[in-house]
Amino acid sequence: MPTILVREETLDPGFVPPALPGREREYRALEERFRTTLARGVPYHTLITGGVGSGKTALARRLSDDLRQRVKIGGLAVHPLYVNCWRRASDRTVLLDLLRGVGVSLPDRGYGISEMLDVFEQGIRKDPRHLLVVLDEVGALVRQGTKLVYLLSRAREVGLGSISLVLIAPQDVLHFLDAASRSSFGVTHRLHLPPYDVAQLEVILAARAKLALRPGSYSPEVIAQVARSAGITGDARFALEVLSSAAQAAESAGRDEITPEDVRAAKGSIAPTLSEEKLSGLSATALLVLLSLARSLKGPRSNATTEKVRQTYAVVAEEHGAKPMSRVTFWRTIKELERDGLVDVDAGGAGQSARLAMDELPASTLELLIEERMPPPRPHKR
Ligand SMILES: Nc1ncnc2c1ncn2[C@@H]1O[C@H](COP(=O)(O)OP(=O)(O)OP(=O)(O)O)[C@@H](O)[C@H]1O
Ligand SMILES: [Mg+2]
Repeated sequence: MPTILVREETLDPGFVPPALPGREREYRALEERFRTTLARGVPYHTLITGGVGSGKTALARRLSDDLRQRVKIGGLAVHPLYVNCWRRASDRTVLLDLLRGVGVSLPDRGYGISEMLDVFEQGIRKDPRHLLVVLDEVGALVRQGTKLVYLLSRAREVGLGSISLVLIAPQDVLHFLDAASRSSFGVTHRLHLPPYDVAQLEVILAARAKLALRPGSYSPEVIAQVARSAGITGDARFALEVLSSAAQAAESAGRDEITPEDVRAAKGSIAPTLSEEKLSGLSATALLVLLSLARSLKGPRSNATTEKVRQTYAVVAEEHGAKPMSRVTFWRTIKELERDGLVDVDAGGAGQSARLAMDELPASTLELLIEERMPPPRPHKR
């Protein structure tokens, strides 16, 4: 029997909380815009921006559920489709997900976009509903010059039925879109979520603790302490993770109450899981290049030249029994990592070599995280 985590599933990242304390105003504004526009029979598009753990995904999920239950547009029910575009940064792969969402499917090879759109349209026609398409982590997709955003934002005109679009990204990405798509996202079609302050984090944590933890297993002091620990970044995900791992630590030590010491230990032990998620999608080659960058960044400088990183790569590759890499492959891998938001490339002026930076997390932490994922290095030959 759990002594503390009585409903652990409510602390899962995928859990959509019934209410979003600290975002009431934003939520009400968003919900009202959608409700009133859809009630007039018109789709509504919006862009949600904000930092890590600012509640973007939670807000869009909550909105999807609520609109599905309460709103009809011209007699049609609202059917939410959620796609996280992080690892599916191409129109085709996103479209494959959307196809599944309307109950049709295609093998993921051999079809062009226009054929896929035809099948998508058939799926919609079979069961007419108003689609609320949420494209989460849409940054990489729009940077690659997506056509899908245009098609979805002009669904009626291009014969795709009735679709509202929610785009989610850390920053404004509209300048990457063509003018026609951009025009669907005027100033009233944007919502920015600022980081939470400590007081808001406290309310969020208290609400979640009430759902997930046994009453009496935590004190208001512990909640305040966890909130403070996430105060600098205003990241609710981090705050909830600290709470959850403090609860786990207390429980596995056989106690039935979380102590401040559990919170401190939990905070120290949590490596940024978002980065872990990103890492888990990378190839072995990309991991080795990233490892080389992490090692090259351990001095006082905030960035390193590509030359330096390539030299470090030679050492790292030998350690791990990997092949040397051509300049071209190295550069392509860097560009991939840049697209994934893990590396920043500063091209440098004429005659200067490019500089690479990685500010996601401490270089030593990144190094540790990657080493954990790699097979152990080959022992040195003597
Ligand atoms: N206002 C809130 N009330 C309750 N829970 C919240 C609130 N905001 C965020 N959360 C919770 O915090 C966690 C992180 O929120 P969410 O996933 O929405 O962040 P995000 O802005 O999408 O971050 P990222 O950019 O990393 O994807 C989730 O577990 C979510 O349920
Ligand atoms: Mg999110």
